[in-house]
Amino acid sequence: MSKAIYPGSFDPVTYGHIDIIRRAAKIFDELTVSVLNNKVKTPLFSVDERVKMLQEVCKDIPNVKIDSFSGLLADYASECGTDVIIRGLRAITDFEYELQMAQTNHKIAEHVDTVFLTTSLEYAYLSSTTVKEVASFGKDVTQFVPPCVAEKIYEKYR
Ligand code: COA
Repeated sequence: MSKAIYPGSFDPVTYGHIDIIRRAAKIFDELTVSVLNNKVKTPLFSVDERVKMLQEVCKDIPNVKIDSFSGLLADYASECGTDVIIRGLRAITDFEYELQMAQTNHKIAEHVDTVFLTTSLEYAYLSSTTVKEVASFGKDVTQFVPPCVAEKIYEKYR
């Protein structure tokens, strides 16, 4: 059975992430989408809230599981018994950081490889930060995130 993990901050999940999740779930038998408890970023949503939003938006994709992790991604991949990490590339500006991360992960755990999917063009400009910024000014964000996620963002800024 082919397995992969798709890690990220998902603060919150956007249509750009969902596009990658759906496409990766078609390639692999089992996909684990995993929320990083990232000490470097100051998230708007707790890990638990982000996991719940992902569960809601992925509930119709049977081979997708939602999880969370902290620490090194390469160690987490080994714990999951997975050799494949999925990452989305939005633009050339993502490439340098992603290349560095993929190579570091491969150095830490030689069996771990990163597979890049190019983000669909209509989501190439999207980021969780811009969605939160737009919502913080009271604007509609339902073109960027599913309605259930938009509602959770509005609640935070109310
Ligand atoms: N469509 C739209 N937006 C996307 C996207 C897509 N397909 N893919 C990523 N993004 C956006 C996200 O919304 C996010 O926006 P933000 O910065 O405004 O929040 C940004 O791109 C990057 O987010 P994300 O994919 O969540 O990655 P990340 O940089 O927060 O985390 C990890 C990446 C989790 C893989 C990495 O930090 C990690 O592995 N950490 C563990 C520690 C470790 O092992 N370090 C050593 C490896 S070098």
